Amino acid sequence: VILTVCLNIAIDTTYTVPGLVPGSSHRVATVGARAGGKGVNVARVLTSLGKDVVLTGLAGGSTGAQVAADLAGLTGLAGLTAELVPIAGESRRTMAVVHGAEVTVFNEAGPLVTAEEWRAFLESYAGLVAAAGVVVLSGSVPPGIPASAYAELTGTAHTAGAAVIIDAEGELLHEALAQGPEIAKPNANEVATLLGRPARTTDDATEAAELLVKHGAKTAIVSQGAEGFVAVTPGKSYAVRPGRLVHGNPTGAGDALAAALADGLTKGQDWPELLRNAAAVAAAAVAAPLAGDFDARLAAELRNTIQVEEV
Ligand SMILES: Nc1ncnc2c1ncn2[C@@H]1O[C@H](COP(=O)(O)OP(=O)(O)OP(=O)(O)O)[C@@H](O)[C@H]1O
Ligand SMILES: [Mg+2]
Repeated sequence: VILTVCLNIAIDTTYTVPGLVPGSSHRVATVGARAGGKGVNVARVLTSLGKDVVLTGLAGGSTGAQVAADLAGLTGLAGLTAELVPIAGESRRTMAVVHGAEVTVFNEAGPLVTAEEWRAFLESYAGLVAAAGVVVLSGSVPPGIPASAYAELTGTAHTAGAAVIIDAEGELLHEALAQGPEIAKPNANEVATLLGRPARTTDDATEAAELLVKHGAKTAIVSQGAEGFVAVTPGKSYAVRPGRLVHGNPTGAGDALAAALADGLTKGQDWPELLRNAAAVAAAAVAAPLAGDFDARLAAELRNTIQVEEV
């Protein structure tokens, strides 16, 4: 079982409009709403990959209830079990306004979580992690959750014998590194706090990944959008390039990458094969309009076009 953690769960709302003009009124052409948050996207991709997934996180209020209902089967996710810990606050909404090829996104911070609610989560998590082989920690956390959250969750996972993939940034990431997560996967912008600048080149991404390893990650992957990613593993370092540029919605490509990495870890694949598969799934996520979805047929097609090069 793979355990995915989504502390800042949301209802992701998508409006499609013909154009976007700040300060004016807009007629909305289509409306979409479904459970979201990075951990939810990861869980969706893993479920599509045929994995048994337990999704945990915090959920509250009517938005939290809507998330729970969505996950309970409205979208037909076989293999997914949601174990959400209730909070008094109202879970957040995100708003994506799609206009042509552009997307404008509004992310709420999320509800204030009390110390008592956080303790309740830690207790529940300790029980869930006992049955997990891999844990994926993704995304931001709501107010009230300490910056040491992912460090603590990584430590608990390791005590239970589970591997950890962390896809986060800032203090959440930095503090967790000391616990030695199996894979850290920030993107090129998110390493700026560590590198002193965003990673613009392969050399930058490699340097950032090496810094992540120096601070404790066993393997570090710095993703660079359509350029692919750099992976510094315990033995070798790789530059992984998509053979083909995929057009579509890149939001959630990183979540698909994290999911596919988790899938590869459970299969015990060697790094080149694991990285190739992960890059194919991530690229195929760009072709799917909604974050958390990917085009499985395209992933299979792209696998052999991915370039995995030692650096
Ligand atoms: N246009 C694209 N064509 C092919 N592959 C892509 C494209 N965009 C992204 N990818 C693949 O997806 C991976 C992850 O993308 P990216 O670096 O944008 O993640 P991210 O910024 O963490 O995304 P998010 O947090 O929105 O999920 C890249 O390393 C690359 O392998
Ligand atoms: Mg990301």
